[in-house]
Amino acid sequence: MSRTILVVNGPNLNLLGGRQPEVYGRETLADIEALCHDKAAALGLAVDFRQSNHEGVLVDWVQGARDSHAGLVVNAAAYTHTSVALLDALLAVERPVIEVHLSNIHQRESFRHHSYVSRAARGMICGLGGQGYALALEALARALDQEG
Ligand code: DQA
Repeated sequence: MSRTILVVNGPNLNLLGGRQPEVYGRETLADIEALCHDKAAALGLAVDFRQSNHEGVLVDWVQGARDSHAGLVVNAAAYTHTSVALLDALLAVERPVIEVHLSNIHQRESFRHHSYVSRAARGMICGLGGQGYALALEALARALDQEG
């Protein structure tokens, strides 16, 4: 069984580091990718780390994970709050999903308080910056160890 985790990043996360640093911090997406690879190696996992600004591309990647990935870490960014299509793909994939947000979405505008992704996620980590991705990988490693 594959021990590769698909880490999916949604729109505008390619701008991390320069985008609203007071909200999202100074870490770049490349920094977070490096953190994920280090953490995954320590956990005996591999990581397939991706970002797209396009909803349909994210849906295609989630669908494809069913054949090739053991679990998913998902920061769908703004699509978190809008995308039934992404929710449906996550419900169909039949792999454990952990939702991550860099910022604490519950401290922000009310339109960010609702997440479609959460309906398909085992758990959600928000407000801890890039560290949330590492914690999500830990949660998936434990789930895979327990569930085989
Ligand atoms: C985000 C929170 C979303 O509300 C926002 O649209 C993002 C990033 C986060 O990681 O904090 O783009 O998912």
